[in-house]
Amino acid sequence: MCGIVGYLGPAKAAPVLISELRCLEYRGYDSAGVAIIQDGQLSVLKAAGKLGNLEKLISERKPTATVGIGHTRWATHGVPNDQNAHPHLDNSKTIAVVHNGIIENYEEIKEELAKAGYTFESDTDTEVVAHVISQEYEKEQDMLKAIFKAVGRLRGAYALGVVSQKHPDKIYAVNQHYSLSVGLGHNESFLASDSMAVRQYTNKVVRLEQSEVAEITVDGVRLFAFDGKEVKRRPVSLDSNPYVIDKGGYKHFLLKEIHEQPLVLRQTLAKYLVHPTKPVSFIPHITPHGNQPTSPSLPTNNEEDNLLSKSYGVHLTDMELKGIDRIQVVACGTAYHASLIGKQIIEHLCNIPVAVDIASEVRGRRLMVNESSLTIAVSQSGETADTLSALESAKKLGSFTLGITNRPDSHLAQITPNLIVTECGIEVSVAATKTYLAQLTAFYLLGIFLAEKRGSITPEQAKGLKTQLNAVPTLLEQILARESDIRTASLKYADAHDVVFIGRGLNFPTALEGALKLKELSYIHASGYAAGELKHGPIAVLDSKVPVVTIIVPGSVYEKTLSNAQEARARNAQMIAVAVEGDELVAKHFDTVLSIPPVDEFFSPLLTVVPLQLMSYFIADYLGKDVDQPRNLAKSVTVE
Ligand code: G6P
Repeated sequence: MCGIVGYLGPAKAAPVLISELRCLEYRGYDSAGVAIIQDGQLSVLKAAGKLGNLEKLISERKPTATVGIGHTRWATHGVPNDQNAHPHLDNSKTIAVVHNGIIENYEEIKEELAKAGYTFESDTDTEVVAHVISQEYEKEQDMLKAIFKAVGRLRGAYALGVVSQKHPDKIYAVNQHYSLSVGLGHNESFLASDSMAVRQYTNKVVRLEQSEVAEITVDGVRLFAFDGKEVKRRPVSLDSNPYVIDKGGYKHFLLKEIHEQPLVLRQTLAKYLVHPTKPVSFIPHITPHGNQPTSPSLPTNNEEDNLLSKSYGVHLTDMELKGIDRIQVVACGTAYHASLIGKQIIEHLCNIPVAVDIASEVRGRRLMVNESSLTIAVSQSGETADTLSALESAKKLGSFTLGITNRPDSHLAQITPNLIVTECGIEVSVAATKTYLAQLTAFYLLGIFLAEKRGSITPEQAKGLKTQLNAVPTLLEQILARESDIRTASLKYADAHDVVFIGRGLNFPTALEGALKLKELSYIHASGYAAGELKHGPIAVLDSKVPVVTIIVPGSVYEKTLSNAQEARARNAQMIAVAVEGDELVAKHFDTVLSIPPVDEFFSPLLTVVPLQLMSYFIADYLGKDVDQPRNLAKSVTVE
C-alpha cells in the first residue's frame, strides 16, 4: 500500500528516494512520485505504473537536488493516473505533500477551500492537505505552526511528508495513527513509513508516535505533539542486518517463499521450543540468525533504548493466564484464515472459548471482551489498520492483548505488551505463504503454552504434540520435492473460470485459504466452503467445467468430507483432492490427487495448504500473471 520516503543530506536526493521506494515496492502500489527542491525551486516528478516509469523521468531530468520526499500510491480516492499520483502541490506550487491513509473530512474541507478560491488538479483527498497547510502558512508564516493548525482541521488516520520551497533545509512529517520513522545518518536524515526503507543507510531510527509532528534537518529531528509541545525521544537501534530482498535463484519471490517454509518453521520452533520435554516459552532464547531479517536483539545497557525489544515476548503472569476465560482473535485476509485454525487449536487444547472476527467487522460493534479476556491480533505486517483498530477497541474494554506478527518493528508491536514474533524474514510477494504457515505454528505453540500453564494437557501429551510439531518441517520438504508433479497436475485446470474449494474442521480454513491464493494470484474466481455447506447453495454452480478441490485427510471428518465430495462428483465436477499419499479411496473417487505425507489430522493444516499454494503459483505463472505483485492488491493495508 502507500509508502512515504524522504531524504535530506549531501547526496543527490532522487536516487536515494528511489532506492527507499524500491524497498517499499513489494507492499503494492500503482503510481509513484517525488518532490525535490532544486536551486530554490520545488519540482515534482510523478508517473502512473511501476517505479521504472518514475526512474525514467528522473534519468531524463537528472536532478541534482539534495532534499526531497517521495511516495508510492495505492489508489483510494481517484483512479491511478499521473494526476492523482503524489506528491500534491498547493496552489502557489511552493508546498508539496505525500500522504498515506485517508482524510475522512476531505469533502467538507474541499468545499470550504473551493469557496475560498482554491482550485484542485486531482481527485485525491491528499490535495486538500497541501491547500490547508498553505492557507495556514499564509496566516502564520511559520511551517510548524501552519502544520499544527492544519492537523487540527483534518480527521482520519494518516501520515504525511511535507516540503516547502521556502524552507529548503527541512522536511516535515506528521503521524496520526500511522507509522513513520526518521533515520539518522551522518549529516543526513531519512524519512520512511517503513523503517525497512532507511535500514540500508542507517540503523539509528526515531519513530514518530501518535499525533506527532517531526521537523527533520541534516542534523537530526525535533518532535512535537499536535499541541506544539516539544517531545524528547532517543533513537532506537534497528537490527543491524539489512533486509535481504533477493529471489535467491527462483523465478519469483513467491516460489522462493513457498520453499522457505521448512526453514521458517524450524526457526520459529527453535525460538520458542527448546526441547519436547521443556515447556513452550515465549521469552525468546535464541538470537537472530544469519543475515535473515529477524527480531531485534534483547534489551542491552546501551545508551540508546531498544524500545523494540521491550514489547517482545509474552509477559502475562501464570495467574493472569489461568484467569483467562475467553479469547478473541482479530485479523484480516490470510491471517484471518490462520486465526480460524488457531481457534480450533486453542479450544481443543485448552477448553477456552475462542471467537475469531474479521478485524474490519469489529468497527461499530461491541467486542465481547473484558478484564478476563485475551485479545489476539494476528498480522504479518503489524500495520493493517483494521487489525490495529480492533485491538485498540479490545484494549479500551480492559482485555489483555497479544500480537502475532512477523515485524517486531511494527505498529502492532508498539501497542501491545505481548508479542509473538514469527521467524520468516521479509515476505516480499504480496500473497502471504510462509507467514501463514508461521502464524499457524505460532498458534500451535500458543495452544500448547496455554494448555501447559492451565494444566489442560498432561506433560506426556505436551511432549507428544511438540515431537509431532518438530517433525513437520521434514514433511514439508517432502511435499516441496514433488513440486513438478504438482505443476503438471495443476496446469490441467489452468483454463477454469470458477474453482470451488471444500474442507471440514481444521481444513475448512485451508479451503478458504486455497481459494484466496488462487484468486489473488491467477484472477480465476474461486470460493472456499465448509464441505457440509456445499449442498446449501454452492452446489448450484457445479457442472463439468468447475473443478472442486477437496481437502481430505484421515481423521474425525474424513468420511463426511468424502460424502460431500461425492455430491460434487455426482454433478460431474472435476475432482481434485489434497490427501495423504496411498489413500486408495481418494484415488478411486478423484481425478487428480495432490498428495502429502501421512500426518496427524491435528497438524494437517500445516501441510495441506502447501500443494494449494503451489497450484495457485503454477497456474498464475502459466497464465502470465504478475505473480509477486498481483493487480489491485497491497501487501500492507494501512487504510480501514
Ligand atoms: C493484505 C495482503 C494479504 C494479507 C492481509 C492482512 O490484504 O494482501 O496477503 O493477508 O493484507 O495482512 P497482515 O499484514 O495484517 O497479515
